[in-house]
Amino acid sequence: MPASDERPFIQTLKAGRHSVVSLFSGCGGMDLGFIGGFPFGGRFYDGLPFKIVWANDIDRLACDTYAANLGDEHLHRGSIVDLMDTLPGSADVVIGGFPCQDVSINGQRSLANGSRTILYQRMIEVIQRVKPKAFVAENVKGLLMSHGKSFFEQMLADFQLPGYTVDHRLYLAADYGVPQMRERIFIVGVRGEAAFSHPATLGTRMTAQEALEDLESAVENRDRSHIWSKARRSPDQGSRCLKADRPATTIRAEHHGNIQWHYRLPRRISLREAARLQSFPDEFDFVCAMRATERQIGNAVPPVLAWHIAQAVREHIEHLMVDAAQRLDDALFVEYWGESCDPEERIERWLALADGYARNAGWRPSDNLFG
Ligand SMILES: C[S@@+](CC[C@H](N)C(=O)[O-])C[C@H]1O[C@@H](n2cnc3c(N)ncnc32)[C@H](O)[C@@H]1O
Repeated sequence: MPASDERPFIQTLKAGRHSVVSLFSGCGGMDLGFIGGFPFGGRFYDGLPFKIVWANDIDRLACDTYAANLGDEHLHRGSIVDLMDTLPGSADVVIGGFPCQDVSINGQRSLANGSRTILYQRMIEVIQRVKPKAFVAENVKGLLMSHGKSFFEQMLADFQLPGYTVDHRLYLAADYGVPQMRERIFIVGVRGEAAFSHPATLGTRMTAQEALEDLESAVENRDRSHIWSKARRSPDQGSRCLKADRPATTIRAEHHGNIQWHYRLPRRISLREAARLQSFPDEFDFVCAMRATERQIGNAVPPVLAWHIAQAVREHIEHLMVDAAQRLDDALFVEYWGESCDPEERIERWLALADGYARNAGWRPSDNLFG
């Protein structure tokens, strides 16, 4: 296993311009999407200018996978409840897919007291502390169903923080280059009054066969996580079979070996195939045993879906920065650089300065650039 510094995404990560605090990071699906710089399904998802400066998860094994792929330096292991004091003073973006078990499985009564779901309030606390330019919160579709609705309305009201324009949308991952019919809600907040433009759907969908075909003849290989559960057919989800000509059904975190069957072969899909259906590149290593890996893959935000959202967040916050730079008083600029120049040159210089800070370990972008 190569050291994390040799991972292809690490160089991209180090070069980021906008600082990101990542909560409930799991194995790093959403974080990878924000970093970019990976191939999937015959396309390369370019590196994005985000730098994860602080990430956290309580699950030791998920942290091991995260560290092996995305680095250890910025990763804080343990409960968010105990780690609030280690947060940076500011950040450009806060992201988090808070735990969802209480919403997706149980009924109304557990929602109010569900200790895990109530963790979303920690995310709100973090946003209030680091005052990002944008935040992105992910959760399950169950929140829109009747049993979760009043809880969701409360949650949305809590996320309507002063100074932010907040919006939510139900995303179908298959519409964004992910070979899976996964539906998830994203709540996005952006500072100021300009609304966030959600990314446009692609208009084409990748099928299960297109995503997995080259693995059909591959033999089981633990190093590549190309291993599968031998659980026999069982009622309900245990007998589900993928269709070759459609995106896969949702890859779940808790299926106890009863993961979907292959569309053609007489076996269940492998962990590597499940990771592909979640749009993880093959370079992403899952360093744990089978059950933990299943959970990490099923819990993740598909990196390719996160990449599209990250791209839209980038456009939004860079627009805010350019706007601020355009409004920069020429006199202030002259005081700083000792000379005057036109607005475009000013923007270039500010952005170059931001890149300079990004390479500096002690960087606090929001302290330095346009509040
Ligand atoms: C839905 S998963 C997030 C997956 C992640 N966003 C990704 O894309 O890979 C929720 C995560 O919250 C973590 N979690 C649960 N309680 C926590 C706590 N008190 N503090 C920190 N993390 C917690 C779980 O271990 C789990 O990995």
